[in-house]
Amino acid sequence: MSVVIVVGAQWGDEGKGKVVDLFTERADAVVRYGGGANAGHTLVINGAKVVTRLIPSGVLHPGKRCVLGDGMVIDPHSLLEEIGQLRAKGLLARGELLVGQGAHVILPYHKLIEAVREDKAKSAGRMIGTTRRGIGPAYEAKAARRGVRVRDLLIPARLRALVEQNLDELVPLILHFGGAAPTADEVSKWIDDALAAGETLRPMMGDASREVAHAVAAGKHVLFEGAQGSLLDLDHGTYPYVTSSATIAAGACQSAGLGPTKVDAVIGITKAYATRVGGGPFPTELDDETGERIRQAGGEFGAVTGRPRRCGWLDLPALRLGVRLSGMDGLALTKLDVLSGLPEIKVAIAYKLDGVELDEPPMDPDDMGRAEPVFTTMPGWGPIPKDARDLSDLPASARHYVEAVERWAGVPFSLVSVGPERAETIAISDPFA
Ligand code: IMP
Repeated sequence: MSVVIVVGAQWGDEGKGKVVDLFTERADAVVRYGGGANAGHTLVINGAKVVTRLIPSGVLHPGKRCVLGDGMVIDPHSLLEEIGQLRAKGLLARGELLVGQGAHVILPYHKLIEAVREDKAKSAGRMIGTTRRGIGPAYEAKAARRGVRVRDLLIPARLRALVEQNLDELVPLILHFGGAAPTADEVSKWIDDALAAGETLRPMMGDASREVAHAVAAGKHVLFEGAQGSLLDLDHGTYPYVTSSATIAAGACQSAGLGPTKVDAVIGITKAYATRVGGGPFPTELDDETGERIRQAGGEFGAVTGRPRRCGWLDLPALRLGVRLSGMDGLALTKLDVLSGLPEIKVAIAYKLDGVELDEPPMDPDDMGRAEPVFTTMPGWGPIPKDARDLSDLPASARHYVEAVERWAGVPFSLVSVGPERAETIAISDPFA
């Protein structure tokens, strides 16, 4: 195996950061393929927390190439801030970073329009609950063919013309949503800042698609890192409560311009329970003490926004959909330890809608909102030993839970994570083997 995609199987925040970090040991290059600073991967290395938003989690392994794919939307200031923080920890010192020149750029007006639009939608009761990082508006500009790309940051006249063109279209909308139009001074500062960021990033910019293709042709191990989760996919997720990019495994090929025949394996990441941030139906949501207990035990607060995540029982219809959409051939189960101490654990094995049992979520948002989970209840377990390295080291009920989920999902587990540290992992198979 030389090309492996790692993708979230649920609504994001599945613990992809830790899994990508582990798999990077065997990779030569790690490629982030979608989204922008809406993602946040919290990594714990020797007790110290590192949060990455744009740069792939593989960055913790010095010398491994870290690529930002053309399908991303990049906020240059956020990127520079992140580069600074990582460099202060001694990382990214060897020219590891490659920023795809075809990736789109998030500028302050994207965040401005998103904020006023979400505020207005809130009062109308139909807020998406976005991360307000400008993701949607930047992808809108891309689809409308007026987007600013990374390469444009090096061409002042082109950048100015594009900003002007975008503001022509957006200012009336900003005013319509009750916002204030930016002043000429603000706009000129936005442009100057973007040009300055472009100059700093210049040595890191390049042709990401070509580099990935060459790495693959040379038989190197390339790991694609998905952001968000499969159910937040723009085409196949729980629309309209989704992000604006292709989060499923196919998005990796699209972002890198890599043919799907080159991909060898897709590993999905699922938590032992479910979480969701922002709006949208969530049938297994626990709006009670158990939900709060899981939130606290799992540290379920957004890595980017700090928002408390909605917590619920593992949702197999949603997981099956994620498995199908990304063609997962292996799964990593994370945060099993978070459920320790609960007297019993529930799992939604199906949904019921109008008397009919469904094995995957209905695609209509109203139907999804009405679907009732069909739960099965399993016994809980006590603490998981910190040194559990094999499934046989788990308490019997925890092992039964893992085996049952694997059977229900229909995909073998390639690892089970029992704590945030690298070592707190039960490795079952190597995706690059
Ligand atoms: P956006 O990506 O900021 O446009 O937000 C759209 C939806 O995706 C909202 O419900 C967000 O909470 C959700 N979302 C975006 N990024 C993430 C993520 O990294 N983890 C979990 N949810 C996310």
